[in-house]
Amino acid sequence: MVPDSVAERAAFLREKIEYHNHRYYVLDDPEISDQEFDVLFRELAAIEAEHPELDDPNSPTKRVGGEPAEGFIPYEHALRLYSLDNAMDLDAWYAFHERVAKGVGTSDVAYWADPKMDGLALEVIYENGRYVRGATRGDGLVGEDVTGNMRTVMNLPMTLHGGDVPELIEVRGEVIMSNKDFAALNARQEEKGDKVFANPRNAAAGTIRQLDPKVAASRPLRFMAYGVGRVQWAGRGADWATQQELMEGLRGLGFAIPPDVKLCASAREVADYFQKLMAMRATLPFEIDGMVAKVNDRGMQEALGYTSRAPRWALALKFPAHQTRTRLNAIRIQVGRTGVLTPVAELEPVELAGVVVSNATLHNKGYIAERDLRVGDTVLIQRAGDVIPQVLSADLEQRPDNAEPFTFPDTCPVCESPAVEDGERVVCTNPACPAKTVQRLIHFVSKAGLDMEGVGKQWVRKLAEDGVLNTPADLFTLKKTDLLKYERMGDKSAENFIKAIQKAKEVAPLWRLIAGLGIRHIGEQAARALAARFKDLDALFASTLDELTELDGIGGIMAESILDFRVDASNRAMIEQFKEAGLHPEGGPAAAASDDAPLAGKVFLFTGTLPVTRDEAHAMVEARGGVPVKSISKKVDYLVAGEKAGSKVAKAEKLGIEVIDFAAFKALLEGKTAARQKSLLDF
Ligand code: IVH
Repeated sequence: MVPDSVAERAAFLREKIEYHNHRYYVLDDPEISDQEFDVLFRELAAIEAEHPELDDPNSPTKRVGGEPAEGFIPYEHALRLYSLDNAMDLDAWYAFHERVAKGVGTSDVAYWADPKMDGLALEVIYENGRYVRGATRGDGLVGEDVTGNMRTVMNLPMTLHGGDVPELIEVRGEVIMSNKDFAALNARQEEKGDKVFANPRNAAAGTIRQLDPKVAASRPLRFMAYGVGRVQWAGRGADWATQQELMEGLRGLGFAIPPDVKLCASAREVADYFQKLMAMRATLPFEIDGMVAKVNDRGMQEALGYTSRAPRWALALKFPAHQTRTRLNAIRIQVGRTGVLTPVAELEPVELAGVVVSNATLHNKGYIAERDLRVGDTVLIQRAGDVIPQVLSADLEQRPDNAEPFTFPDTCPVCESPAVEDGERVVCTNPACPAKTVQRLIHFVSKAGLDMEGVGKQWVRKLAEDGVLNTPADLFTLKKTDLLKYERMGDKSAENFIKAIQKAKEVAPLWRLIAGLGIRHIGEQAARALAARFKDLDALFASTLDELTELDGIGGIMAESILDFRVDASNRAMIEQFKEAGLHPEGGPAAAASDDAPLAGKVFLFTGTLPVTRDEAHAMVEARGGVPVKSISKKVDYLVAGEKAGSKVAKAEKLGIEVIDFAAFKALLEGKTAARQKSLLDF
């Protein structure tokens, strides 16, 4: 028997974690830090491990993916999932509106406009507020049961929110991958030598149809609700009289709905909004291929009904395709920080979706061979997501007679050392290849590494090419005079450059340093996992293969890669140089728990204008074991108020939270006690 109190605690934790998942993934407005979240999560996981009787497939701990499946079981939808008729221009839109007006007997029709998301259509089913099933659209009548994989979609509620939930609800929507997540996934795939996806839609579809839910869990998908199938409420009839109410209802139940939805009072407003949305297209975080306009009044929707394939009350207004043709002028080979030779297409500049495109990635040797792309070809290119465009195919009819198949080089174009095949990749064999040095340095200062704002990529390249910088450690001994030798470097820029490096040295948390080293297969996620386990770089590099692979998120290939990195004497020397320069951030469980960390467990909130950015301030707190948060609550220990601090100061005062200025914060970082800042409160 599980004691009541334990069962209650588990229920409490599940609700709390679901709540914070919603704040993070749906509202994009977290209330607690990742560390605070981890504490809740770990407590729940520990209870569940000790009390298997409390098992619940919808527990937040199950969202990391269950056992692999052998195949997908067909699922017959209770109500058909219709398709949509398309309009390729506004004339077709107005013609649709005429038909609607005729059907409902008035031209005074309001429409609800959604972005048309380019993902995979899906239905999720809830009984008495609990998630019970997810199924793909399939042919509209029968889809595939993907219940397990949909659990790993973090913005999907496992329990519906609010006191008033339907007995049964079938929610329809689109599963998508954001452009950013898509680019990151492809970069990971490419680094691992795995297949890259052509666009976010394919990545989303491929992920949902993964037989191993753990793989699905490792690829961030989102569900955006846009409609419903069956909805049954206990003891009452139809709710939600309009599409707008329906969407607000879905949001209230905990679903994410697409951004930039709009109620339009007339057909004209729909047309205007279509133009606006088209202009916004490139700035949206995910791919959309048009707009869907729906008659807002659900009574009218019912009166209009359906054709055999689509509703008569909704229309997809499509954007022109993000594809075009141009000439492949040359294939250039770039060498990356791990020595991989990446082919890049040099294209005849052409406009595509509002930007001029002159380069496109060709991924690897196999990609060119499979498509038989030849210099001189007319190629079809497309922009998918917010990434560099891709070359899809060559137009054989337009191929010039003298076009030769492309021969991939077997020497490095930078240092001329032999280049060898390694899976799908071709790599330069020279460990000291100058291209690697440059790319490693650029990676080290970039957002993926120490994030040194003010240290320009072009300058790093120049300094590396001139031999001023050879390894990342050289950055820390760089002097202003080294920079001022360059005519184009002004006094102020040189000063900012040096300051940015010094600042990074002070604030960089251990995970950034690990990620910045550019160890193969070790990106941000892995670096964070390592920094949470090891006290510092020395401890990390003293670890054994077993210790590494025991960690969540660190696989055998990653562990070996870490050990390979350590074997290299020049890497070990670099780490010593970091320490000598004073770059020695500490991590490990001790950073959060022990008293050695001056801010251990203390919760900080920042407000007003500060001498550093918010990200930097948060990093300073994290580096010393503290917990940065973004909103005020009783849990906050210190409110650090800069200039023009707003209402948070008064709120903090009310909650009895200590308010300090930046100088006092700096003193705290050094382990001194903060003096309460009266002056700020006296305003
Ligand atoms: S409404 C009965 N709204 O477009 C209404 N569909 O071409 C049918 N889609 O299979 C769908 N965004 O996958 C609707 N905001 C949106 C949509 C949307 C994308 C997809 C959906 C559907 C396809 C039809």
